[in-house]
Amino acid sequence: MTPSSPTAARVTVADHPLILHKLSLMRDVRTGVKEFRELAGELSLLLAYEAMRDLGTEPERLSTPLETADFPTLSGKKLALVAILRAGLVMTEAMVKLIPAAKVGHIGLYRDPETLKPVAYYSKLPQDIAERRVFVTDPMLATGGSAAAAIQTLKDAGAQSIKLVCILSVPEGIAVVQAAHPDVEIVTAAIDTGLNDHGYIVPGLGDAGDRIYGTK
Ligand code: PRP
Ligand code: URA
Repeated sequence: MTPSSPTAARVTVADHPLILHKLSLMRDVRTGVKEFRELAGELSLLLAYEAMRDLGTEPERLSTPLETADFPTLSGKKLALVAILRAGLVMTEAMVKLIPAAKVGHIGLYRDPETLKPVAYYSKLPQDIAERRVFVTDPMLATGGSAAAAIQTLKDAGAQSIKLVCILSVPEGIAVVQAAHPDVEIVTAAIDTGLNDHGYIVPGLGDAGDRIYGTK
């Protein structure tokens, strides 16, 4: 893990070799839908491991077959995983295997191809979102419009503790999210060079939703 730099105080780049290798496979244009989807799920688990590093634990008295002693178990607020549709879905579906008791929310947004602004079409969140630690997922943080809007939707619903977990990001998107939501930590596998004229991350991996679902 690369510690946060002073200019990007709340960004964690989870650059473990396994993460970087899987990300390179996702970038490869030859990688087909099945493998891309599997890699996105595997990477999400590894990113969740990093994003959830600061979850609290408390001792619980348990008996092994040999002895009774105090052992750490998760404590503190319960968790919510919130997917930004479509592409974030593959991430929450993987992460919920790690945290089966987590509640799962969905925020539907698509990026208008002309304006690059997010268009909201759906929102269904756990009723007790205010009491939960929220991990919002989207593979791509490009202009940052979608993530910033989704985080605003979560805050409007009462969420107070939010982390953004994304596979790929760029400085532009990070800056937009940090400006709008300086309280939200971002966990990402890599920060790419920037955006092209169509708002795509370069070198990037293409359109995440299309590559996950085979729609192009
Ligand atoms: C992609 C991606 C993000 C968004 C990022 O979704 O999954 O949600 O673009 O771009 P931004 O940072 O510039 O807002 P898309 O709009 O393609 O919708 P989809 O997931 O339904 O394909
Ligand atoms: N959305 C994607 O899926 N890919 C990008 O590169 C930018 C936005």
